Amino acid sequence: MLTIPTRTAPPPRTPDTVPAEASDRRPTAVFDRRESAVRSYCRSLDAVLSSASGSLLRDESGAEWIDFLAGAGSLNYGHNHPVLRDALVDYIAGDGVAQGLDLHTAAKRDFLESLELIVLAPRGLDYRVQFTGPTGTNAVEAALKLARLVTGRSGVAAFTNAFHGASLGSLSVTGNSTMRMADLQPLSRVSRLAYDGYFGPDVDTSALIEKEFDDPSSGVDLPAAIIVEAVQGEGGLSAASIGWLRRIAELARRHGSLLIVDDIQAGCGRTGDFFSFEQAGIRPDLVVLSKSISGFGLPMSLLLISPEYDQWRPGQHNGTFRGNGHAFVTARAALEHFWSTPAFALDVARRARLARETLDDLADRIPGAQVKGRGLMVGIDVADPELAARIRVGCLHRGLLLETCGPRDEVVKLMPPLTTPDELLADGLRRLEAATERAIR
Ligand SMILES: Cc1ncc(COP(=O)(O)O)c(C=O)c1O
Repeated sequence: MLTIPTRTAPPPRTPDTVPAEASDRRPTAVFDRRESAVRSYCRSLDAVLSSASGSLLRDESGAEWIDFLAGAGSLNYGHNHPVLRDALVDYIAGDGVAQGLDLHTAAKRDFLESLELIVLAPRGLDYRVQFTGPTGTNAVEAALKLARLVTGRSGVAAFTNAFHGASLGSLSVTGNSTMRMADLQPLSRVSRLAYDGYFGPDVDTSALIEKEFDDPSSGVDLPAAIIVEAVQGEGGLSAASIGWLRRIAELARRHGSLLIVDDIQAGCGRTGDFFSFEQAGIRPDLVVLSKSISGFGLPMSLLLISPEYDQWRPGQHNGTFRGNGHAFVTARAALEHFWSTPAFALDVARRARLARETLDDLADRIPGAQVKGRGLMVGIDVADPELAARIRVGCLHRGLLLETCGPRDEVVKLMPPLTTPDELLADGLRRLEAATERAIR
């Protein structure tokens, strides 16, 4: 049994005072011994990562991977981008404020001004910004709560295969029953709507939803909000069509439900535009952003609110970490560096075409496979979870880190940093091709 040493006399670390398993010298031993069984991503990569730059990740032994996971979409601008890193180092060296309460700070002011000037004003959006707790699910919770406050309705509507986070409110609108721990959690007041294409290409699910909403005796109560991802990141890279998104937006408007777009994964340039809903020309009532908004992998999460719905009373939704000082600095640097001109979005679109060409070609060689996603949030649904897992493992062995997604993990998912140089992108795609060829043999 582990002996807990007293504080006053720290004992030498001898075999008597540390658990027997501590003699295990594997570099990952302490994770197995000490870290909760709940850990997940590390189970597919048995390495101890120690440095990273751009689209490359390295471990302690010097092994290197091309990173097509990008911190699950939180590193759209790659690892340690020098412009962001220098801004942060200067800020820290100058004793910049790092607290996370909603006190006014120069760093927050500069970020808000950049967001206003570079993102909101050019798109004709006049959202108010609420800084919520630090991670994506905190912004989703705030959005659901605000929609209920504004409409006085308690139910919300969410889509099949959606993923919105792991806290209870967000889980209630998530599809995946394992994530929801469906047998245990009493999560209610959610109507589940069929996402675009859920019943195949010939069924317009927006027409089905319209019918249910329009019919007062359909049994579907009008919701406070409809929450939707324009591209379902975890649910399998299903991308809603422009027409479908417009019809859902119109339906929400007509029935007094707030439209929440969850842009946590698909936002910040991942689909090509800053917001994933721009091509559809819709204006959601609420938008949630997180993951890559700080640009540097720092925790930051925000809710964009149409001004008429900013009906919070001061302090009504609170928290200690609601705006990380360091994240403001890197977020502002990212907006200014990447989004001040259209050049970056054009670059992303070009790289997305390169990826798509290879994936289309590859999908043709796999029976029943199809390419899914939009922009640089793309992948191949290989229709077989075991095949997808073999491809993922084969990629790892070839120095390419990526993940699978979808209801049964049957989609091989590519989320390279948007800044990945063309040659490295092509190199990663070649490794994927080799791993896939091998896996289908
Ligand atoms: C679309 C979407 N919403 C919400 C979340 C939850 O974000 P977080 O894991 O930061 O709480 C995620 C995370 O993957 C996501 O992809």
